[in-house]
Amino acid sequence: MKHFFATKSLDLLLEEMAGEHRLHRVLGPVSLTALGIGTIIGAGIFVAVGAAACKTTGPAIIASIMVSGVACVFAALCYAEFAAMAPVAGSAYTYAYATLGEVFAWVIGWDLILEYTVASSAVAHGWSHYFQNLIGMVDLHLPNILSKAPFMTDPGSHHLVATGTLIDLPAFAIAVMITVILVLGIKESARFNAVMVVIKLFVVLFVIVVGAFFINPANWHPFAPYGWKGLSFFGGVFNWGMVKDGLPVGMLAGAGIMFFAYIGFDCVSTQAEEARNPQRDVPIGIIASLLICTALYIAFAAVLTGMVPYNQIDIDAPVAAAFSRVGLPWAQFIISVGALAGMTSVILGLMLGQPRVLLAMSRDGLLPKSFFASIHPRFRTPWKSSMLTGVAVATLSAILPLDTLLQLVNIGTLLAFVIVCMAVLVMRRTNPDAIRPFRCPFVPVTPILGALLCIVLMLSLPSGNWLRLIVWLLVGFGIYFFYGRHHSVLAKIRAQKKH
Ligand code: ALA
Repeated sequence: MKHFFATKSLDLLLEEMAGEHRLHRVLGPVSLTALGIGTIIGAGIFVAVGAAACKTTGPAIIASIMVSGVACVFAALCYAEFAAMAPVAGSAYTYAYATLGEVFAWVIGWDLILEYTVASSAVAHGWSHYFQNLIGMVDLHLPNILSKAPFMTDPGSHHLVATGTLIDLPAFAIAVMITVILVLGIKESARFNAVMVVIKLFVVLFVIVVGAFFINPANWHPFAPYGWKGLSFFGGVFNWGMVKDGLPVGMLAGAGIMFFAYIGFDCVSTQAEEARNPQRDVPIGIIASLLICTALYIAFAAVLTGMVPYNQIDIDAPVAAAFSRVGLPWAQFIISVGALAGMTSVILGLMLGQPRVLLAMSRDGLLPKSFFASIHPRFRTPWKSSMLTGVAVATLSAILPLDTLLQLVNIGTLLAFVIVCMAVLVMRRTNPDAIRPFRCPFVPVTPILGALLCIVLMLSLPSGNWLRLIVWLLVGFGIYFFYGRHHSVLAKIRAQKKH
């Protein structure tokens, strides 16, 4: 029992960093920030902003983005402190191991699969939608049987029902293509990501700058037609604010939805082992990418809600439809290309994070080392686990419907953020004198507020999400019980010390 809560000392972590089989240190501050921006801006901005403004918040989506952004900035400052202290690939998993104990670390590592693998699958769906739209502009269409997932959620019964199709082929194909790039090398991945980021930033700035000329300030009134509240605990057991069609609406409800748009900044911390100067550059990468994306989101949302009255925003293609409305239908092409590039880099960033967390877990013996810690002799990438991640993402995105995937992503990521915030508090107590190249400001206020805000957002997710999270964690706990605790490297070290 004692071993469950055994922590891995900071000294041991740093000692291990000098060992064999490490990743290639090639990333500088610009690459890390680009990887952060690459992983943040995607389906959240090109799809969720419009849908949430129309149905949940009105123009107050701008405030929702700010509230969600504040929760993420608090969490990001905590991530940055840890990433600079222990720049290894495991991110939140490693931070939990160093502070809260092995069983918590395992749980968080297992939970991160919900963020990285499941979110990649969800974004691959969005990618497929935009891809089919784009080829549709030149009158090309996929056969129906290959165009979407074979299951969907029935809106009435909420059960999975067959759609009559076989597979979402574009979603499958993008997952396979990105896996190949990831296996080929971190430099290749960073280069490919940089190209995607440039295209998407160009398109986001295009929307902001050109769209600004078509803003009608009257569209911003009323600013919060659904009110400023909108928290629902366990999916409606207790509601604070208005409810529409069984769902909470209002500015705070919008903050819960927009959280998805920020997912990804934490991936930078999984690349700490590939950073040339991690102590300085990883905090820069995390915080700079988050601040840049927050500013872009706010401007983007202000333009969209300024161009179109909130209740007339097109939910499927909000930005393209807004430009058609003001007489610029050709912009649809540019926007679709930007959205595709944006989502490609999100999938890449998330799929880059997953094998690195699995690598850290296997080095500790909690997963089979021969598979998950295998580094390709030439490419120096965790190739086997990258391929396994690719197979999982391709399969999930090709078969399961978007809403099923999305429901797992937010709750899993929020749990990771809560644990990282708490871990900073614990580490400040247990290792007060450790060298902290980056110090999270205003401790304990920042981590406490970060954890509280994330807990509030978790509580406002439907109760079904909690159930799924609990089932997922129980499965993970079962694996730990039967495999991890018997193979734990830390357990072996402790046993040796005893004798
Ligand atoms: N933040 C990522 C996106 O919006 C997941 O696509």
